[in-house]
Amino acid sequence: MKDRLVVFDTTLRDGEQSPGASMTREEKLRIAKSLERMRVDVIEAGFPVASPGDFEAVKAVAEAVTESTVCGLARTRPEDIDRCAEALRNAARARIHTFIATSPIHMERKLNLRPEEVLEQAVNAVRRARNHTDDVEFSAEDAIRSDPDFLCRVFEAVIAAGASTINIPDTVGYTLPHKINELFRGLIERIPNADKAVFSAHCHNDLGLAVANSLAAVLGGARQVECTINGLGERAGNAALEEIVMAVRTRQDEFPCDTGIDTQEIVNCSRLVANITGFHVQPNKAIVGANAFAHEAGIHQDGVLKHRETYEIMRAQDVGWNANRLVLGKHSGRNAFRTRLKDLGIEFEREEDLNLAFQRFKELADKKHEIFDEDLQALVTEAGVEEANERIKFVALRVTSETGETPEARVILSIDGSEQTGSAPGGGPVDAAFRAIEVLIESGCTLQLYSVNAITSGTDAQGEVTVRLESAGRIFNGHGADTDIVQASARAYVNALNKVLAPVEREHPQISEHV
Ligand code: KIV
Ligand code: ZN
Repeated sequence: MKDRLVVFDTTLRDGEQSPGASMTREEKLRIAKSLERMRVDVIEAGFPVASPGDFEAVKAVAEAVTESTVCGLARTRPEDIDRCAEALRNAARARIHTFIATSPIHMERKLNLRPEEVLEQAVNAVRRARNHTDDVEFSAEDAIRSDPDFLCRVFEAVIAAGASTINIPDTVGYTLPHKINELFRGLIERIPNADKAVFSAHCHNDLGLAVANSLAAVLGGARQVECTINGLGERAGNAALEEIVMAVRTRQDEFPCDTGIDTQEIVNCSRLVANITGFHVQPNKAIVGANAFAHEAGIHQDGVLKHRETYEIMRAQDVGWNANRLVLGKHSGRNAFRTRLKDLGIEFEREEDLNLAFQRFKELADKKHEIFDEDLQALVTEAGVEEANERIKFVALRVTSETGETPEARVILSIDGSEQTGSAPGGGPVDAAFRAIEVLIESGCTLQLYSVNAITSGTDAQGEVTVRLESAGRIFNGHGADTDIVQASARAYVNALNKVLAPVEREHPQISEHV
């Protein structure tokens, strides 16, 4: 009997800390339900003390998820822990994850605390968390750059105080596979009460080694991996869940453990996260990239046709790649629509939301005759965007573009309930549309990124647009999808502007004045 490797997903917490990846309560709920369907063991839903919105999102996930443990992050401050416990109160299974930095540079420069004070705060935090739940995780932030002797003392003390998971983060993505393997082996061997806790790896990808380091930690004794869908996360991101899970599954000859993940849900969840955050997956990304299972070179194709294993080590269908299925068409009814969405893990809390999505489906089916799963997922995200309580609403756009002529755009927006029209010329139709919007809004933002991605194949495919705006040092992402990419671009721009106009004040758990 192999050990269980606990999969701890932090897409909704560490992933969301990525600039521009912030999610609404509804978006977090959709991702959490998808993770639950995938049978993720622990879902870290957020940092409840960060803002009232973060608290509500964690609470909503805790109430909606019944199969996975729902976890909230808390610094060692008593108010963080109590707020976290309050958000998790109705969870079927709740975990409090508390952390404090243990490396000399973090203790001296960030916390301004002596090692003894850090140890004391860690123990007090775990004790306080244990008053709320039996499932307490402790993380030593920047463990990789910490003194192993000090780590041993801290971990022994927090296990004695009641922590049942010990997380060893590579916060800055600095370690190498053989180093982290030695560290896990050494700590597990030296800590007298190590058998009372599950050791966990949490690797960042600054050197592109997050997955390799996580796997090396598993070989060194870790039985929990912390990861995110598509490797989402700050800077270069976290370890990608799908890569860790498939490496462990594919190389069962090497690993003494296995996960309980339903791998057929992977692609679905990956698309959902990309869709909601606008962080698209590169085509050659392992497991979930569009080319991950495409064998284009003739020699490969020939080999695969003769005998699949010649070039394939996994089967596309095992991770949920279905050959783009034609799911619904123009004449499909509301029930068929609802059923298909349910199969994709999408359920609406309110009947109005289903109605809005169905209306968008009918409009799309008029323009595009074949509707695929990917179209449905984008459409539901779009319907959510429209529903949101936004100050600016996109009403209409007219763009003229002709060879040899300067493109012109005329946009109608509803701003705080009043319709206004703006016009502008531009270098191209998209540029003209953005300028026309700016004639009305005058946001002063700079455009940092503009990207278009065809959701499915064919010239009638929906274009999925991401716009990233920068305003006063903060990043805001907007999304839009439409068969007309200029319309999709304008919607994405408006979506980003709405976020600029209503920035959410939230504390960052690691970079904050209150530590
Ligand atoms: O990277 C890190 O150190 C973290 C901790 C808060 C666990 O995300
Ligand atoms: Zn992290």
